Amino acid sequence: MTRPGHRSRSASACARVLPWRWVVVALGLAAMSIAGPACTWNPVERDAGAAGTAGTARPMSADRGDGVDQAPLWQADAEGYLGLEVCRGCHRLETAHWEDTVHAAAFLEQPRTALERRACEACHGPGAAHIADPANRSAIFAFTREAGASIEHMNAACLRCHEGGARLHWPGSMHERELMACVDCHNPMTRVSGRGLLRARNVNETCFGCHPTQRVELRKRSHMPLLEGRMDCVDCHQPHGSATDPLLDAATSFELCTRCHADKRGPFLWEHAPVTEGCTSCHLPHGSNRDSLLATSPPYLCQQCHAQIGVANHPIELMTPRNLAAGGSAAARDPRAIGRSCVTCHAAIHGSNHPSGARFHR
Ligand code: HEC
Ligand code: HEC
Ligand code: HEC
Ligand code: HEC
Ligand code: HEC
Ligand code: HEC
Ligand code: HEC
Ligand code: HEC
Ligand code: HEC
Ligand code: HEC
Repeated sequence: MTRPGHRSRSASACARVLPWRWVVVALGLAAMSIAGPACTWNPVERDAGAAGTAGTARPMSADRGDGVDQAPLWQADAEGYLGLEVCRGCHRLETAHWEDTVHAAAFLEQPRTALERRACEACHGPGAAHIADPANRSAIFAFTREAGASIEHMNAACLRCHEGGARLHWPGSMHERELMACVDCHNPMTRVSGRGLLRARNVNETCFGCHPTQRVELRKRSHMPLLEGRMDCVDCHQPHGSATDPLLDAATSFELCTRCHADKRGPFLWEHAPVTEGCTSCHLPHGSNRDSLLATSPPYLCQQCHAQIGVANHPIELMTPRNLAAGGSAAARDPRAIGRSCVTCHAAIHGSNHPSGARFHR
């Protein structure tokens, strides 16, 4: 397990601000006699603007010297909100990228709530204090630890719209307890992934960032086809939390695996007890260097549970008289220990519907 350090952004957004805009901005700041107070917007209170910076930004009007006042360049509403176009004025690139996301489509084309109509400020909070003093990093709610945002606040800013649903088990989940933020996996500012607004180009790459062990497991001889692009982590895991450890997207591994491997679900006339208990007593979920993702190769796999000596039909442990007498010669090697071993004969190991399949031979 590795965990990347807290993200830091070295390239200042200043670099992306157009020079001519700066002239306008300088004029704007000069025209503002009072700088707005620091951002006190608190998404935890779930009430946009209630703790906002009410009416601190003054509308700016540029006097051209001919005595005619121009229309204000920006006008904050009573709660300190400015609207998308003001943000675009200085953040052209970020705005263009953001407009390519699901949020932009929802907020700009079909807003369902007043908050969604706020566009940028639905997440960043009211911008009045920020434009009064763009260099003051605590004047706008940015989603970085370095800008002073607590994880609780960052997550609350997303959860106010995304609580419940798949996030029902987020509180108390392993990722939440590890103090992760939604934005450790998501980046809502630009469309990097096909779906899910993820930080990396797909689900697997997003998870590998912190779970390199799984990448290694998926390269083993027998493995689930994730690197081949046929499935991804969220086919089995619920990254937002789940009632089943470890973050499984089903109540049991039996339920999970038989979603796709329906032939192993049964019901069988003759059930093999450990199969109904869960697939992971014999299989590894990600990858294995043994056949069929097995945790251990037969006969050892079977002997973990079937170690009885001298049972009615045949001795099961490896130290059979035949095995010992053969002295290891290949010709006489016990068929119970070679090749597919026990499953050469007990082929219907997941259960049998054959009338005489009680021993899983067919
Ligand atoms: C007057 C120009 C200007 C306007 C208008 C403006 N910004 Fe900024 N913004 C800046 C500058 C400059 C920075 C870079 C500050 C820095 O890196 O120190 C910045 C930085 C930011 C940051 C990053 C802060 C951080 O700590 O990483 C966010 C988020 C942001 N702006 C959001 C907005 C939003 C939302 C709006 C619209 C409500 C907006 N800005 C309007 C100039 C502006
Ligand atoms: C759905 C919530 C959301 C909306 C809506 C949103 N942002 Fe952001 N913004 C974020 C998050 C989260 C980050 C931190 C991204 C990261 O960690 O890289 C961020 C980062 C930023 C930054 C810092 C620089 C950067 O690109 O990382 C700026 C500037 C910014 N946003 C401006 C805007 C502007 C302008 C708009 C509207 C056009 C906007 N944001 C809309 C959530 C949002
Ligand atoms: C003002 C409400 C609001 C806020 C705040 C908000 N979202 Fe959303 N989000 C939406 C809406 C609306 C959609 C569109 C899909 C839908 O109908 O649910 C959406 C969609 C998404 C999607 C699905 C993208 C896809 O490709 O299907 C993700 C992921 C997401 N949001 C993450 C976040 C994160 C992370 C934050 C916090 C930084 C956040 N959202 C903040 C309202 C919001
Ligand atoms: C460990 C990584 C991770 C974390 C942390 C995380 N997500 Fe996600 N999220 C994902 C992945 C992966 C998807 C699925 C994308 C897909 O199906 O392609 C997703 C999907 C979503 C979606 C769209 C599908 C849906 O379930 O509605 C929303 C909305 C969302 N996340 C919001 C959040 C919010 C809010 C938080 C913080 C409380 C959060 N996520 C934290 C990884 C994460
Ligand atoms: C920013 C880092 C980070 C990212 C990205 C991340 N995880 Fe995790 N994950 C952790 C940490 C930290 C733990 C707890 C320590 C551990 O068990 O290794 C954890 C634990 C887990 C666990 C074990 C949970 C348990 O109860 O033992 C699973 C399963 C998991 N993550 C799945 C995912 C999936 C799926 C994704 C991608 C959608 C993902 N993680 C992305 C950091 C991350
Ligand atoms: C085929 C379903 C499946 C897929 C796909 C899958 N997992 Fe798992 N994962 C499981 C199961 C089942 C367990 C529990 C194993 C156990 O209980 O022995 C698990 C356990 C884990 C654990 C806990 C530590 C461990 O190895 O037991 C982590 C972390 C994890 N998975 C991460 C991931 C990541 C990251 C991905 C995507 C690259 C992923 N998983 C894809 C089914 C899956
Ligand atoms: C989302 C669907 C899905 C889920 C869930 C799933 N699998 Fe698979 N599994 C596959 C696919 C696809 C293959 C590859 C089959 C192929 O290549 O013909 C596969 C292959 C296998 C193989 C054969 C591997 C080999 O090398 O021959 C085993 C064993 C297996 N899965 C066990 C499991 C177990 C155990 C679980 C539960 C932890 C599980 N599967 C969950 C889709 C799934
Ligand atoms: C008692 C141990 C055991 C349990 C429990 C078990 N398996 Fe298997 N499984 C095996 C063995 C052994 C093989 C190899 C069979 C062979 O080589 O013919 C295998 C092979 C497979 C294969 C690949 C070959 C095929 O038959 O398609 C899949 C897929 C599979 N198991 C899925 C599952 C699923 C799903 C579960 C849980 C419902 C499960 N297994 C539970 C022992 C087990
Ligand atoms: C996790 C423990 C476990 C593993 C591993 C396991 N089994 Fe079983 N097996 C059982 C249990 C429990 C029963 C039911 C015993 C009973 O009904 O008395 C059983 C029953 C059987 C039976 C029927 C026995 C009877 O008396 O009806 C056969 C045959 C069998 N297993 C073969 C195998 C083979 C071959 C393997 C290896 C591929 C294997 N088992 C792996 C636990 C296991
Ligand atoms: C050459 C074929 C063959 C191989 C290989 C084989 N078995 Fe059997 N096994 C049988 C036959 C035949 C029976 C008796 C079937 C009956 O009575 O219906 C049996 C019965 C069993 C039983 C039930 C015990 C009882 O008293 O009826 C178990 C458990 C068992 N085998 C486990 C194993 C294990 C574990 C291995 C691998 C070490 C293994 N078998 C390898 C053919 C085989």
